[in-house]
Amino acid sequence: MQNDLLTVEEITLGELKEIFRLAAKMKRERSKSKDRPLAGKSVGMIFSKSSTRTRVSFEVGITELGGFPLFLDQNDLQLGRGESIPDTARVLSRYLHAVVIRTFKHEDIVEFAKYANIPVINALTDMYHPCQILTDLFTIYEYSEHLEGIKIAFMGDCACNTANSLILAAKLAGMNLVLSSPKKYRPDQDLLDYDSIGNGTVSWEEDPYAAVENADYIYTDVWVSMGFEEEAKQRMQKLKPYAVNADLVDNASKDVRIMHCLPAHRGEEITDEVMDSHASIVFDQAENRLHVQKAILTMLLKD
Ligand code: CP
Ligand code: NVA
Repeated sequence: MQNDLLTVEEITLGELKEIFRLAAKMKRERSKSKDRPLAGKSVGMIFSKSSTRTRVSFEVGITELGGFPLFLDQNDLQLGRGESIPDTARVLSRYLHAVVIRTFKHEDIVEFAKYANIPVINALTDMYHPCQILTDLFTIYEYSEHLEGIKIAFMGDCACNTANSLILAAKLAGMNLVLSSPKKYRPDQDLLDYDSIGNGTVSWEEDPYAAVENADYIYTDVWVSMGFEEEAKQRMQKLKPYAVNADLVDNASKDVRIMHCLPAHRGEEITDEVMDSHASIVFDQAENRLHVQKAILTMLLKD
């Protein structure tokens, strides 16, 4: 595995399988395992955006692995008063064994990783959310027992961080991903064209009903990601036809499962009825963040 996890591009298919194997073991043995692969190691967590799942699952995960998590609000650090990213990265590398970062601009985490000599893990940027999507693939694998050929329909803002990471992950794992949105929120063409990561097929479909046809999984995310609040009104209007409701779900495969990275804005991108249905696996996704991130930390911090 490379030193950092900034995007799904850094993962090979072999490493994905190893993450799954370790995550499944950690899930099975959660309260019984005496393994402490992070004993004596401190992991910083620099967050400049809100978080429930990522923050808590990383803090709990690091603790369960025997490490020490340090939550660092960007505004409590000198970073918030203008200390440079390179200097912050150099200094924190002298104390910590790894750092988990949630921020706005993806270039900022790339710059941090360039100057840090400890592993850097992306806990969400405006462009990517790799820990979420690797977890989602693990969750699909738990349900379907394979990934190749599985069809996922992603509905809504197809240019957001989760969609971008899902595009890369679907290609890597040989899945069939159809993203559905109005033109304004269609996926990045360079990502769609990117073909050196795997042999999955990824396409964009404007018609939401055509997109979900025969889908094994329907995935959605909020219409207004953190940092895009000024565009809220326009996004709500344009994305409305892409809401995941019972009518849309009826047009997918009869065993379709529903996914959402959460937090959900119930009544906007997903209805209560769908979110609370038997088909919904959203809370399995949330739980699996813990197990998958423990696997990733173990692999990145192996001596
Ligand atoms: N899915 C996810 O990353 O949730 P949080 O924003 O609560 O961390
Ligand atoms: N796309 C969402 C994901 C939240 C976990 C956001 O960036 O706000």
